[in-house]
Amino acid sequence: MNTDIYWQAPSLNKGARALLKAQHPVCIWLTGLPSAGKTTLANELEVQLHGMGKHTYVLDGDNVRHGLNSDLGFTDDDRAENIRRVAHVAHLMVDAGLVVVVAFISPFRAERAYARSLFGPGEFYEVFVDTPLSECMRRDPKGLYAKALQGQLKNFTGLDGPYEAPELPEVHVMAGSTTPPEGAALILQKLGVGKAIRLLDIPT
Ligand code: ADX
Repeated sequence: MNTDIYWQAPSLNKGARALLKAQHPVCIWLTGLPSAGKTTLANELEVQLHGMGKHTYVLDGDNVRHGLNSDLGFTDDDRAENIRRVAHVAHLMVDAGLVVVVAFISPFRAERAYARSLFGPGEFYEVFVDTPLSECMRRDPKGLYAKALQGQLKNFTGLDGPYEAPELPEVHVMAGSTTPPEGAALILQKLGVGKAIRLLDIPT
């Protein structure tokens, strides 16, 4: 890091921004194999949160790789950089007062732990979107498993690319046997939405 760069403290902080939105900003981090249902679940979560009057944003791996991370591929180093960048973007969005849903394969525990380390207590929820590989391969909506099996795609997560499942996620969604609305409701229940309405608590 350049030691000639100083942190600039703005007059307004996260608490003030969140107060205006009447919500507790958090990062909901979805991890899982390709085609596990992360994007569908993220979309459903955002729709449900939006319906509750929450200010949200979804960061989806496929979409972020079209812009900010379009220079990155699928080597281990590129994936680490992919996660480092999106973790910081999510952190900035939480600082802005938003409820941010991140839907990235994020295959490595170390990078997910790094993402978690950026956030304060109660601000980061890791959700394991746990769909059996056989089901992901059966779905294969983009035909990528088929391509990888034919040798046209290297380092494909779940096949010749590793996936390190979370050991202690805040939420474990069995996405093969749960509908997206049920999965989203489970996550919101863990967050306390609809019960203690934790998302309405304002950070100090
Ligand atoms: S991550 O591993 O770096 O977190 P990310 O979530 O950004 O991955 O992007 C995953 C998407 O890239 C998948 O949904 C899939 O469509 C596409 N993709 C292309 N090549 C690969 C690959 N080798 N492994 C996994 N996903 C791939």
